[in-house]
Amino acid sequence: MTWGKSVHRLLRGNRQRNELSRGSSARNQEVPFEEEKVNYKTINFNEKFGLLSEYWSPRVVAEMNDYQFKVVKLKGDFVWHDHKDTDETFMVIDGNLRIDFREGDVHIGAGEMFVVPKGVEHKPYAENEVKLLLIEPRGLVNTGDAGGELTAPNDIWI
Ligand code: NI
Repeated sequence: MTWGKSVHRLLRGNRQRNELSRGSSARNQEVPFEEEKVNYKTINFNEKFGLLSEYWSPRVVAEMNDYQFKVVKLKGDFVWHDHKDTDETFMVIDGNLRIDFREGDVHIGAGEMFVVPKGVEHKPYAENEVKLLLIEPRGLVNTGDAGGELTAPNDIWI
């Protein structure tokens, strides 16, 4: 009974505090919140792809929380690799991408996307040029632990 009463008092106290703070913030805050953070310019894929001069070199075009959106142009064969800690999303904007897995493959056409599960070995292959949007957490290395000359530096924005 004592426990019930004290919980009830606690809840009522919280509710009153919340109402009080809501009331005071509504009275005092006249500045629209975070309006200065809005960038009204859209991100145009064609424009961004036009800035890419090398294949297999992802460039960051936007971030959402801890995730980055990267444009990249692919042609030819990549290396076998996996990403131990994260899935990786491939969204094809133009062309046809094949991703080989140890036990199969997937063909991703323009307007299609595919999520490679974490820890699954994969090797992208583009017979002709592919324009791709990658969605992956900040800091992901494109070749995983495989390394090699196709390993691209991170966090280069265009
Ligand atoms: Ni990968």
